[in-house]
Amino acid sequence: MNYKRLNPTVIHLETVDSTNNYAANLLKTSKVANGTIIVTKRQTAGKGQRGNLWETEDEKNIILSIILFPGIQPKDAFHLTTAASLAVHKTITPYLNNVKIKWPNDILVGQKKIAGILIENQVKSGLIASSIIGIGININQENFNSSIQATSFKTELNQDFNHENLLSELCVNLDFYVNLLMENNLKILLSRYYENLYKYKVAAQFEIDSDQFSGIIQGVDESGKLIVSRDQILTAYDLKEIKFVL
Ligand code: BTN
Repeated sequence: MNYKRLNPTVIHLETVDSTNNYAANLLKTSKVANGTIIVTKRQTAGKGQRGNLWETEDEKNIILSIILFPGIQPKDAFHLTTAASLAVHKTITPYLNNVKIKWPNDILVGQKKIAGILIENQVKSGLIASSIIGIGININQENFNSSIQATSFKTELNQDFNHENLLSELCVNLDFYVNLLMENNLKILLSRYYENLYKYKVAAQFEIDSDQFSGIIQGVDESGKLIVSRDQILTAYDLKEIKFVL
């Protein structure tokens, strides 16, 4: 395997539509090093999961994308999700209590979202040749769209948070977890993911097509679907099918 440890090159942009889009263009137009990070202060058309927008106030939050060349099979894509979520989780936990990963890759403090991750993979010759991992972490923003239950470092700590060190801590943590993946330590990766998974093995409320029910998360399958038991029956759901009721 030719995988090299991350040696981040950081590209700072004043403003951009989306750091993920910028990273995708960079991949098309130039030779990029593994671990290249694009970071910005202002994002005008940030992309979230499920085609949603990711709105973030100027100069208040961490907005970045990191480019990796994992060379793994598309069927193993979920391991990138576990590695990225664990890295963001580990970066936040020294500062805030009750940080959890909500499947697949939202980071919560209590029941409120503090960080989101959008992974876009490029498949070539049957392998994930490159992967763009977009990460947004709410730092000093205090007002959020009322339709989402969100929080930030400032909201939790009741004071401005200086996030200068957070980027380098995130790089170290990403390197650690991506390396676990590249060395095929998938069991460790998954067990750490479960240790930090929101509502793992406890009763929780879910919604499918407006039908609410109580179920218990039993894990994720190899393709990353959420396995939920409901009245003793196990079903695997993908992101479009099931929602948590928070
Ligand atoms: C989510 O919906 O939870 C995912 C949000 C991901 C947002 C980040 S911000 C940096 C990167 N650039 C984007 O356009 N989106 C991701």
